Amino acid sequence: MDAKVNKKDLNWSELGFQYVKTDFRFSATWENGKWNDGELIRDEIISIHEGAPAIHYAQQCFEGLKAQTSADGRVLLFRPNLNCERMNRTAPRILMPQVPDEMFLCAIDEVVKANYAWIPPFGSGASLYIRPMLIGVGENLGLKPASKFEFRVFVSPVGPYYKSDGLAVISLAVSDFDRAAPSGTGSYKVGANYAGGLMATQKAQELGASEALYLDATEKRYIDEAGSANIIVATKDGSLITPKSDAILPSITRRSLMVLAKDKLGMTTEERSIDLRKEFSSFDEAAACGTAAVLSPVGKIYFDDSWHNIYKDGETVGPVMQDLFDQLVGIQMGEIEEGYGWVKEVSV
Ligand SMILES: Cc1ncc(COP(=O)(O)O)c(C=O)c1O
Repeated sequence: MDAKVNKKDLNWSELGFQYVKTDFRFSATWENGKWNDGELIRDEIISIHEGAPAIHYAQQCFEGLKAQTSADGRVLLFRPNLNCERMNRTAPRILMPQVPDEMFLCAIDEVVKANYAWIPPFGSGASLYIRPMLIGVGENLGLKPASKFEFRVFVSPVGPYYKSDGLAVISLAVSDFDRAAPSGTGSYKVGANYAGGLMATQKAQELGASEALYLDATEKRYIDEAGSANIIVATKDGSLITPKSDAILPSITRRSLMVLAKDKLGMTTEERSIDLRKEFSSFDEAAACGTAAVLSPVGKIYFDDSWHNIYKDGETVGPVMQDLFDQLVGIQMGEIEEGYGWVKEVSV
């Protein structure tokens, strides 16, 4: 099959961050202590037992990454090995079997290749979002791990997470809710972390913010992260800082940006506790970062009953975040030689 023919006739630049059904997904099953080989399938519906632990006890985890088309037509993934590593750190935390690295990475390659027609073209501002997931599917009413698991990878073409013409400047509102307990599952990518956040996001949006910002659950002082992204802050003394917390997801984007800030922008970087109220006046710029958010500068934050501007007008992008965005996206799109081995080409 020449998968390269018949690119879909979508309005790529109008895509939002929504599910679009593509042709193929990968599915493998773990039972009796081992994985089967798995295969590409067409059916997007998963039929599982009504007693499945994924449904009742949230025994499930997932990952998210993107494939991009470069100017010369290559299809590029950004550090997929780290998604594999993170899923295989998460799985044992909720008593699920790890997915063999080779299966994880090959499944991504295969699904991207098989859905070549759905990969947004270069210059459209859109990309192919890849969602690996692992769910406990066997029948199991009692509170114990599933006896059967499905590993699935599906893809969907997506546009920007925060809609805007250029680099989206967003706003955050500090949530009264906690996202994760200090020794809970906050640093693991489990679905259970997200259900509790739905209302926090809704409340933040009612205040006019793009997303909720969580502080640490113990003292409600230190920045943890946003609903679906980590936080980075450029301080007035020229450092790039990011929260040190056991309760946040170790973002692959954030880890990459910290390296770029040091290597390419010559900044001092530090992972440490950041006291929002005490340190706010030292913030020069801030951003939310993640696969979906990419790097979204934060113009203002709502806390203690009022908005606090980071950028003077709460809207203009600062030079550090603009530079970091350009570096990151340039690397992800294959325009900037990176020398780290971060970008993996899918042979379509
Ligand atoms: C809660 C949360 N934090 C941070 C991130 C960013 O992580 P990454 O950069 O690996 O996509 C995500 C998205 O995956 C997320 O859901």
